[in-house]
Amino acid sequence: MINIQPGILSAVPAHARYLTFSLIPGGDPVTALLELRRITSGKEAVIGLGASLIEVLDKTIPGLHDFPSYSHAGIDIPATPFALWCWLRGSDRGELVHRTHQIQQALATGFRLNDVTDAFKYQSGLDLTGYEDGTENPEGVKAIQAGIVQGVSEKLDGSSFVAVQKWIHDLNSFESYPLEEQDNMIGRRKLDNEELEDAPKSAHVKRTAQEDFDPEAFVLRRSMPWASSTQEGLVFVAFGKSTDAFEVLLNRMSGAEDGIHDALFRFTRPVTGSYFWCPPVHNNRLDLTALGID
Ligand code: HEM
Repeated sequence: MINIQPGILSAVPAHARYLTFSLIPGGDPVTALLELRRITSGKEAVIGLGASLIEVLDKTIPGLHDFPSYSHAGIDIPATPFALWCWLRGSDRGELVHRTHQIQQALATGFRLNDVTDAFKYQSGLDLTGYEDGTENPEGVKAIQAGIVQGVSEKLDGSSFVAVQKWIHDLNSFESYPLEEQDNMIGRRKLDNEELEDAPKSAHVKRTAQEDFDPEAFVLRRSMPWASSTQEGLVFVAFGKSTDAFEVLLNRMSGAEDGIHDALFRFTRPVTGSYFWCPPVHNNRLDLTALGID
């Protein structure tokens, strides 16, 4: 398929920036989106649109709904909706700073910048805990099957739903555990990335084993570590042909099914949670026809 925002299928870049925007009440989001379309192609910036924006435009995107929040047995998973999300991708942090300003200006008639999170690739694609992230990601045709809307309609095919959560790690806590216990929390060996067959049920890869769901719950993950001067963690990003797979994975992680929560929660917690619809592209520009914008 040629109408997918190319950044979705590409490997994670060396540097990234996540921008979230809120609507300016009474603003002009259509002019802003036209400006955004003029300067982005879906490659160097993947764009997602939130439910509040779609609603203001008086349109619906079937399948786009509120992010599920949870509060069970000491586990809090917040929902923090935003109108628009940009995942800036690149190799030069300075260039990402300049692109942030360019996008902010382009959107100025309708949107206000809410948050900027700087992210980066760590070594070969590790989470800051030192574990390889993305090993069981679907690839090629399977990535498209899991991550991209197909066979629905001309206006929606090539689009994608993305779940985004900013997680804050407590690395001091994680590193205080012996290596064997760390491996049991993830369900893989840090030293060689081998999966532990006898890992506890709470191990992250046991909770999220995509083939163990009915139907199978494959998502296309593109998460990246982030850090500020005082905090760090992972920006979890999962693209899907719908939000269904993400939701069943998160539900099992939370412990809502069987009372066993994912061991990840022992050292990390999500502080945001949002869904966005990532439009397809046409002639290297965002295709907004589903929103009545030609
Ligand atoms: C701080 C948060 C998280 C961290 C540090 C993390 C880290 C990891 C690591 C190290 C792996 C093993 C290697 C791999 O296959 O990628 C993994 C697997 C996976 N994670 Fe996460 N993850 C996080 C959050 C999530 C969330 C919120 C979900 C979905 C709701 C999720 C879904 C998955 C899936 C589907 C797999 C592959 C499981 C399989 O089929 O074997 N992860 N994660």
